[in-house]
Amino acid sequence: MSSHSGSGLHFSPERNWMNDPNGLIFYKGKYHLFFQHNPFENVWGNMSWGHAVSEDLINWNELPVAIACDDSHAIFSGSAVVDYFNTSGFGTLENPAMVAIYTAHKHDDSHQAQALAYSLDEGLTWVKYEGNPVLDLQLNHFRDPKVMWDRTTEAWLMTVVLPKERKVSFYSSKDLKNWAHLSDFGPVGATDGDWECPDLFPLFVDGDESRTKWVLLISINPGGLTGGSGTQYFIGDWNGKEFIADDVRTNWLDYGRDNYAGVTFNDVPNQRRVFIGWMSNWEYAHSFPTSPWRGAMTLPRELTLITKDGKISLAAKPVAELENYLGEKLTAGNKAELLQIMATISTSEGLSTKFRVTADAGSYFEFGYDAKSKSIFVDRSNAWNEIPSTHIHCARLTGDEKTFDICAIVGSASVEIFAVGGTLVITDLLFLSGVSRSVSFEIAEGCQPPRSIAVRAIAPRR
Ligand code: FRU
Repeated sequence: MSSHSGSGLHFSPERNWMNDPNGLIFYKGKYHLFFQHNPFENVWGNMSWGHAVSEDLINWNELPVAIACDDSHAIFSGSAVVDYFNTSGFGTLENPAMVAIYTAHKHDDSHQAQALAYSLDEGLTWVKYEGNPVLDLQLNHFRDPKVMWDRTTEAWLMTVVLPKERKVSFYSSKDLKNWAHLSDFGPVGATDGDWECPDLFPLFVDGDESRTKWVLLISINPGGLTGGSGTQYFIGDWNGKEFIADDVRTNWLDYGRDNYAGVTFNDVPNQRRVFIGWMSNWEYAHSFPTSPWRGAMTLPRELTLITKDGKISLAAKPVAELENYLGEKLTAGNKAELLQIMATISTSEGLSTKFRVTADAGSYFEFGYDAKSKSIFVDRSNAWNEIPSTHIHCARLTGDEKTFDICAIVGSASVEIFAVGGTLVITDLLFLSGVSRSVSFEIAEGCQPPRSIAVRAIAPRR
């Protein structure tokens, strides 16, 4: 067995299987991360919502299973809201209910519908609503509701998918219990797989509070950019009824293989939009030989919209809270469990810049800038096991920048690259032979060194 986790930085449950993040919400000073979880085994099944909380998005504390599957239904992916105005009547104005909106999946796979559960004790214990399901089209594929309070309409807005039809549907409700259909989006963009786990949210453009655009994330499996699971996004406008995309061509959220089913938190203060994805791919998620747990999340990332070369793009960066965990400065050859590598890379000489990260058990991976293809890349060919997969994942620069910034979070189990202001992201799992707890970096021989570089150790617990 490999010690695949090693890092307290990427959330994994203590034991057993995990996939999608669910019910991401901030309430009373705590970030809640619920997740698709099999409480009994290290494989997918008995799907229930696991639960963890954090005060800073980095240091997570796992709590008991929140919403458990029952004799008839599994608890599939969904979201959570705090019902501050007690529209549902589940709580009171003094103690509002946290309400989970999830997909009730019948164990014989014959039926999926949207259902509610509520908690009056900050997500610790939950009651399934006796009137479930609350949105039922009598379909066997209809899932992954993301609910938020829509200020445009002063109502609850649900974004949910018809996976086989490659459609996102929007519904509105005043009380979380009765839902009215508003419109559908799709099929457009990438359609070679089931659409799953949608999320619609507003963001300011370039931080300008007078310019709002809406982002629609849609996970797709298979049919992702690198094969298997992937997430596409569209930018457009929301008029309270319909999402109108500026462009219906797919943008990829991530150019690596291991960032799926990601969604954003509700109710984060200061209008921050924080995203977490499941750091795996359905193509091989079950084959990863980790024990006694299986599945990790990406680092929480703050999403923004930035204008670049006249086009609005989604940008992702590790949340600023990570800075509190940065330790000593390192130079080539120093070892640490996790590293943050920040560099500025020059493209004008037409030369490649490569970093090599070597684990203490000897295997290594590379990432950097490939001048020939004008791409940022990760090459994990020497940091993988026998599981079939592609190994080189790259993202082409879209502009003609003379230099660009790169931030890489690397360890022995994963690499997360945020380049060109976070507009190009690559997330890949790694598999290094033997027990590797620490890594070191060097600038690969024969290539151009970066313009500037700063490397820090990341200490998961302070
Ligand atoms: C995405 C997904 C969701 C579903 C859940 C089941 O990874 O397939 O569509 O709700 O996982 O665990």
